[in-house]
Amino acid sequence: MKTTFLMRLGFDVVAACLLLVALAYYWLGNLSHEWIGTCFFLLIALHNMFNWHWYGVLPKKRRTASGKFDMVMTLALLMAMLVLMVTSVVVSLTVFSFLQIKDNYTVRQIHAFSAYWAMIFVAIHIGIRWTRVMNAIRSALHLSAESSTRKLVLRLIAGAFALSGLQSAVALDISSKLTLQVSIDWWDFEASTAGFFLGWVSIVGLFACVSHYGFTGIQQLNRYRKAALTSRVTNP
Ligand code: HEM
Repeated sequence: MKTTFLMRLGFDVVAACLLLVALAYYWLGNLSHEWIGTCFFLLIALHNMFNWHWYGVLPKKRRTASGKFDMVMTLALLMAMLVLMVTSVVVSLTVFSFLQIKDNYTVRQIHAFSAYWAMIFVAIHIGIRWTRVMNAIRSALHLSAESSTRKLVLRLIAGAFALSGLQSAVALDISSKLTLQVSIDWWDFEASTAGFFLGWVSIVGLFACVSHYGFTGIQQLNRYRKAALTSRVTNP
């Protein structure tokens, strides 16, 4: 069971890397971009097959605030992925060109727009599941259940990611990418390729941190409310 989860986690890490690499369209060139994107969607299909049960527990999710948060963010991710997938087929110049679908500037813009949002929703998705991921890694590495030093080190790393994510969001002009504004400020891959990838990794870190702490905060609030309600019922 644990091994299966770790194997699935491995596929998810590869998918996240492909998504990140596909964002560097002008570094890859069209052909590699299209094949990397296509492989990414195959892994996403696999991810959905493995996690199909999640859709079955959706009605239960609506009962708590944290469940609602998870549901809204995951459905937003699904929406972004579907738009990205459909527009990929439409704008394709090689892999799906045999379909001879006519594209236009707006569809190409929507393709890039959904790609950037997909990355942000992936980060939020990771943040929501971070505790589960950490528990699986910890038990695979046979580490002790609780360690305040490890907790502190991980929190410091998370803080550093969040800070550098803020800086990178400005450097990569994320606000115009997420608001469908035309930006003439292309990333100069000749000047720094690593800067692009590190920048995006830290932006993912920033959104994952915010969603992880936001999500655990909502869960804690849920627990306090439940405990307060129970004590009111038992001690009226
Ligand atoms: C992981 C999935 C994908 C991501 C994250 C992604 C992302 C992007 C981004 C960000 C751009 C715009 C680059 C820019 O102008 O700034 C782009 C352009 C493009 N993508 Fe994708 N893409 C993905 C999958 C695909 C697939 C599967 C295909 C086709 C099979 C495809 C075909 C294209 C084409 C043809 C363009 C150029 C559009 C133009 O002329 O402006 N993409 N993609």
